Amino acid sequence: MNSKLLKEKFIELYGEGGDIREYFSPGRVNLIGEHTDYNGGHVFPCALTIGTYGIMRRRTDKVMKFSSANIRSGSVVTVDLSDISYKKKYNWANYPLGIVWAFKEKGIELESGFEMIIWGNIPNGSGLSSSASIEVLMGKMLQDQYSIKSLSMLDLALIGQYSENNFNGCNCGIMDQFAVAMGKKDNAMFLDTSDLSYQYAKISLPDEKIVIINSKVKHSLVDSAYNERREQCAKALEQLQKVVDIKTLGDLDIETFEANKSAISDEIVRKRAKHAVYENQRTIRAVEALKRNDVEQFGKLMNESHISLRDDYEVSCKEIDILVELAWETDGVIGSRITGGGFGGCTVSIVRNDAVDVLKEHVEKEYEKKTGLKPEIYIVDIGDGARRI
Ligand code: GLA
Repeated sequence: MNSKLLKEKFIELYGEGGDIREYFSPGRVNLIGEHTDYNGGHVFPCALTIGTYGIMRRRTDKVMKFSSANIRSGSVVTVDLSDISYKKKYNWANYPLGIVWAFKEKGIELESGFEMIIWGNIPNGSGLSSSASIEVLMGKMLQDQYSIKSLSMLDLALIGQYSENNFNGCNCGIMDQFAVAMGKKDNAMFLDTSDLSYQYAKISLPDEKIVIINSKVKHSLVDSAYNERREQCAKALEQLQKVVDIKTLGDLDIETFEANKSAISDEIVRKRAKHAVYENQRTIRAVEALKRNDVEQFGKLMNESHISLRDDYEVSCKEIDILVELAWETDGVIGSRITGGGFGGCTVSIVRNDAVDVLKEHVEKEYEKKTGLKPEIYIVDIGDGARRI
């Protein structure tokens, strides 16, 4: 599949004519700063060149038609504008439908329906944000097709998050939608989630590659475990606020956290808070290291991030730990960690150019031996955010 074939599919499904427009929205990988975005901390993601293609045309009646070329070809989910609600049977279409719902919640009601089709090449459940990619894609398609000039790309990111939180029921932070909407070729984004201020940081690594390895596992209960982590952080914050004047866990430096952590009564909740605080400080230090071209230090901080996500935040799993360890034991791997929400998905590693093939071979051989699964390995190209093409 490619965008030309997708257009042919669109026409096959909905017919010719009218103002048919094409769009693309990327996936993202987070380099460091995991589970900090709902704690007022920093993140450091970048947009990928893989993502979701979308095609849309407006209709004159009130009918919305959704189709995905990734799902059974030719099937269409039809919803009337007067009856927008989450329905299990809509399956994947709840993501784009949620955006129409969120627009309405924000006071932007569509006067007519549309037809759309999408196709994506982000592996599902890989932790590379296939859902945020669809959400921001849909926002961009509606903004452009209905000429909604008041909405910025940042607004589209916030609408995507709002929809995911309130329509699709995952209480995610802003990182994924932000990265997908605001991505810039060859740059990562250093985002402070406490006030949404951000800087682009050029990623120029002439001697290294960023490598993503897909474990091919997605453990169930991802959303419920994610929401549980969020609640634990909220609990820690509530208890810490009795002894220190902070708005979020991201306001704490390590010394202040260590001096006050006994205010958190539950040991597990204390570990969760420790990760949130340390990971935020690590992210700040990692970006400083990158600015001074200290890639080695950046890699060390990635490794520390993994250990903290594995032991304190407990969002890793056996398969991901195997991938990270295989990377750690390969000469020329500068850093490696789990990326994204966790419980499966992908690892991200920084690897010296001359070690990429060695790592590939090592992982392909050993991972399958240890887990029975075939990993997928991608070399990352950092691309732009969601756009009309
Ligand atoms: C998921 C969420 C993000 C973020 C990451 C963990 O990808 O959607 O908001 O919390 O997990 O860093």
